[in-house]
Amino acid sequence: MPDQRSQRAARADASTTLSDFERSVKAGLTKTPKSLEPKYFYDEAGSALFDKITELPEYYLTAAETEILRDRSAEISDLVGPGAELAELGSGASIKTRLLLSALVEPATYIPIDISAEHMSAAAKDLQALHPDLAIHPVAADFMQPLRLPERSGNGHRVLFFPGSTIGNLQPADARQFLGRMHGEVGADMLIIGADLAKDRATLEAAYNDSAGVTAAFNLNLLARMNSELGGTFDLARFRHHAPYNEAAGRVEMHLVSTVDQTVTIGDLTVAFEAGETIHTENSYKFTIAGFHQLAGLGGWRPLNVWTDARERFSVHLMVPA
Ligand code: SAH
Ligand code: AVI
Repeated sequence: MPDQRSQRAARADASTTLSDFERSVKAGLTKTPKSLEPKYFYDEAGSALFDKITELPEYYLTAAETEILRDRSAEISDLVGPGAELAELGSGASIKTRLLLSALVEPATYIPIDISAEHMSAAAKDLQALHPDLAIHPVAADFMQPLRLPERSGNGHRVLFFPGSTIGNLQPADARQFLGRMHGEVGADMLIIGADLAKDRATLEAAYNDSAGVTAAFNLNLLARMNSELGGTFDLARFRHHAPYNEAAGRVEMHLVSTVDQTVTIGDLTVAFEAGETIHTENSYKFTIAGFHQLAGLGGWRPLNVWTDARERFSVHLMVPA
């Protein structure tokens, strides 16, 4: 049954308030080196830009994970069993979810969880049209904060789905802690999680520096968001997108580089930039399978199975509590 009431409630509960954003921007732009939190990419424009990124030829992550889920969904369904509740972290457009939901036997509930409330609600509505009998309970929330999900229903597993390698946007210590929280707080007794694999520099840098400039627009949208929501005076033409692979740290980094010496104001805050100075906006960690097993193990998860795409670019792990 369509669940309009819970969708409205989810919107009202959205946990990113303007003051959170303002506080985070002030903290990030007054330290050295300057940084911003990647969760703020995802306003409506940012979510739409991310959806475009997933369609780029260079951004292999989505195609590779989709290939795994398409080819392995029957196997995954056998391991999950009937009547499962599926809770998805950072659900976005809930496109990959369709592959899982179509394969699962009588899934009981789908709980998308995302900070981008309007975008999630639209995705939930589209999904409801495909699965009219499925109970869908969207939760608009920052998953780094304590989560309150609907009570469990039915006797199936509560499966946490965390695709996209969004886990790689967390610092490793935060990722461990985060995975640990998912047992008690979310009540998950199974985890299906996507992790991008370390690979050659050229492939990685192309994925985050696409020729159409969509990733650059996604990164620069953070400046536009500070202008529109916080009264900032950023001139987007005076910053450029920069996304190198930091091999020693095992991550692709995204930065916004000031192309000139300049001063920007955001409300009552004045921020000076030297030419070449950067704002560090995102890390995207890349893993080996053994390294990911170790990280998840520290969060209390034991691997049951792992699948990769044919070109071994991306991994999907099915895990249970250790
Ligand atoms: N799962 C989709 C989308 C990945 S993009 C896919 O695999 O393609 C990352 C998603 O996580 C976005 O939809 C973004 O809004 C959401 N997100 C990022 N940080 C978040 C946070 N702290 N809390 C909740 N959602 C977050
Ligand atoms: C959501 N996350 C896993 C993406 C990534 O690849 O780190 C966000 C992104 N940043 C630039 N392109 C895509």
